[in-house]
This record gives sequence, structure tokens and C-alpha cells, in this order.
Amino acid sequence: MQQILDSIRRYARENNIPVILDDTRKFLEDLCAKLQPKRILEVGMAIGYSASCMLKSCNANIVCFEASLPNIEIAKQNFEKLKLTNRVKIVVGDCLKTLPDYKDEKFDLIFLDGPKAKYKEIFDLLLPHLNKNGVLVADNVLFRGMVLDNKEITENRFFNTVEHLKDFINYVKSKKEIQSEIKHIGDGLCVVQWNERG
Ligand SMILES: C[S@@+](CC[C@H](N)C(=O)[O-])C[C@H]1O[C@@H](n2cnc3c(N)ncnc32)[C@H](O)[C@@H]1O
Repeated sequence: MQQILDSIRRYARENNIPVILDDTRKFLEDLCAKLQPKRILEVGMAIGYSASCMLKSCNANIVCFEASLPNIEIAKQNFEKLKLTNRVKIVVGDCLKTLPDYKDEKFDLIFLDGPKAKYKEIFDLLLPHLNKNGVLVADNVLFRGMVLDNKEITENRFFNTVEHLKDFINYVKSKKEIQSEIKHIGDGLCVVQWNERG
């Protein structure tokens, strides 16, 4: 299994498909081993690398939201190779349109790794799906150090994303019903749980 996962990661690198960094993979695998989620939701599956790493570390099933048809085709082949197909459901399309259909379903682990400039809107759709003892993890919230460290924004095209992620972090911190922590792991993770009082 590990060899196939390594080849998926290599393929992603060679084809400029962004996937989780190694530290993030390790964090998610440890979290899955500890939490033993039964149901995982992922926004932004790409070619199935992070989903497969999480499934490898627990017995959960996963629902993946993904908009890119080419990525979905490759992800399906990868899940097949890894014999994970029967644990994966893929929801095709813009998650802002498809997520509301899942309003009655709860998940033990939610991994948000979709469009960074839409995190706040997606987060609002995701939070009602988080189980009482569940954990939500959002990736890339420090965006190459440009979000909290006041590191210079190197390219104009990043400006909106960085501003949105700053806004996203403030928004999450302002919500009384949840507790959140920013971890300097990989590209920055925002880890959210319900407050005991929530
Ligand atoms: C960073 S990649 C995900 C990487 C994956 N989580 C991994 O580490 O293996 C982000 C993915 O989000 C998808 N995406 C972007 N906007 C989306 C949207 N509105 N709805 C669903 N998926 C979207 C992209 O097509 C891309 O595959």
C-alpha cells in the first residue's frame, strides 16, 4: 500500500497537483489512529492522496467533494489500486452547491482542503455536519507564512487568498460554540472542535 501511496504523491508532484505536505499527512494519520473516525468528509479530494492516507490509518468510510472531473477519474483509479473503492463516495461538483444536500449527515472527521478563497463559506456549510466529539481540520491556513507571519505576499494573485484566510481565521476564532487552534504544521492547519458548552 505504501508504495502505491508514494507513487500517487510522485504523480501529483510531477503533474503540479497540490496534495498535503508530509507533516500534514503525518498529523492526519495520527489523528485518524487516535480518533478512529467512522465517517470522514473531505472537501478537495484531488487525486485521492490525502483521502487514502486517512483511510489507511483507520476503518472509516469517506465522502469526498471534488469539482475537477480529470482529478476524479485519476482518484477512482487510485482508490481501485489501493482496494479502497468500497469505502469512498465521491460527490462531483462545486461543493458550495453539493454540500447543502448533506445537511442531515454527521461526520467524525472533516478535512477542508478545497478552494482557499472560499473557506469561510464552506466552513459554514461544514460545521453542522461535525459530530459532537468530531474534529475539523482546514489545511493551508498560513499559506506559505503569508497569513500570520506578515511575510511579504510574493505574488499579486495570492493577495485575495491571503486576505480571505486572515478573515477565515478571525471568523473561526470569533465563534463561541467552537474552540480552535492554529498549528504550524505543513502549510498551517486550523483544528476545530465543539466547545464542551456548545
Ligand atoms: C489542494 S487540492 C486537494 C488535495 C488533496 N486533499 C490531497 O491532499 O490529496 C484542492 C482540490 O479542491 C478542488 N476544488 C476546488 N474548488 C472546488 C469546489 N468549489 N468544490 C469542490 N472541489 C473544489 C480542486 O479541483 C482540487 O482538486
